[in-house]
Amino acid sequence: MGIEERKGEHINAVLREDMEYSRKAGFEQVELPHKALPEMDFSEVDLNVKFLGKKAFPIMITAITGGFRGAVKINQELASVAEKNSLPLGLGSMRPMLEGVESESYLVRKICPSIPLVGNVGVAQLAKYGPEKIEGLLSKAELDGMAVHLNPLQEILQPEGDRKFSGSLKLIEKLCSKLSVPVIAKECGAGVSRGVAKKLKEAGVSWIDVSGAGGTSWSKVEYARGGKPAGFEEWGIRTVDSIMMCRGTLPLIASGGVRSGIDCAKAVALGAEIAGAARPFLVAQQEGKLNEMAAEWVSQMKVAAFLCGCKTHSDLKELGGGEHSGCGGSCSGCE
Ligand SMILES: Cc1cc2nc3c(=O)[nH]c(=O)nc-3n(C[C@H](O)[C@H](O)[C@H](O)COP(=O)(O)O)c2cc1C
Repeated sequence: MGIEERKGEHINAVLREDMEYSRKAGFEQVELPHKALPEMDFSEVDLNVKFLGKKAFPIMITAITGGFRGAVKINQELASVAEKNSLPLGLGSMRPMLEGVESESYLVRKICPSIPLVGNVGVAQLAKYGPEKIEGLLSKAELDGMAVHLNPLQEILQPEGDRKFSGSLKLIEKLCSKLSVPVIAKECGAGVSRGVAKKLKEAGVSWIDVSGAGGTSWSKVEYARGGKPAGFEEWGIRTVDSIMMCRGTLPLIASGGVRSGIDCAKAVALGAEIAGAARPFLVAQQEGKLNEMAAEWVSQMKVAAFLCGCKTHSDLKELGGGEHSGCGGSCSGCE
């Protein structure tokens, strides 16, 4: 099956309701401390952060798609809502652009001139395409950062998936040393452990998107397409656990089963800089409700902060001990 066909099939599969983990990401077990005397006005809440050199609201639309005709409209609409709400936007895997299959769907910068825009390549592609090729994507799509996705769970279950993962860290290290923008290492729904986070930090990675278990289940998606062996539907580190494991290593993006602006506030209180989600934005885009959904999540996150007496992103982080993520002064919380 060609990439174009597989991408379309993935979108259709992910939209089915039974493609999420049965267990949750853990946010339902986290309670933010309600403050009956906030001693501030709601209009004072300003949660903006600096991410990849730009000011943005700390909810990221993480990598969803690109590389086939149907992705043009999706990415254009995501770019538009991202710009309107100052949300960072991640593009889907740029392998089709590297392979010369399709590039129009990734060229959305004109629609979102002011937000942090992040590219995406798979760790498996780094063996085939060197840093120079990847640098080429940056200039063509006018990107502020490059995400490298780690998805061994999906690949190993996918009939046509990659099987060779040795030497990945060296390739990531090489990319980090050559690329002109920060590199974000991201999982795709199975979470990052502290040991892996430390290795990524040593390799020169700037940010980690923990993308933990509890949201979209890529093993379920692959099973729906004939993937094997059975039994890995619930595999992975829950997002809340992954944040707790990785905090203090690198600045974190927390995605995977984040399902409201309240979850986003909890993610930051737990130690992430930015919260993120993919499937909820795709579902809203398909239903023509992207603007309403984004506005609601932004509003929920601000109201949650207000009800805890937090005016800023730093105040929200303080709720969980205020530990910055070992960023050496580069993250928003350190400014
Ligand atoms: C339709 C779809 C396509 C995705 N494609 C990519 C991709 O190309 N690259 C990537 O790094 N992550 C990809 N992801 C993973 C998401 O960025 C995210 O890490 C994961 O889905 C967990 O978040 P969620 O539970 O909010 O969906 C995709 C997710 C969805 C829903």
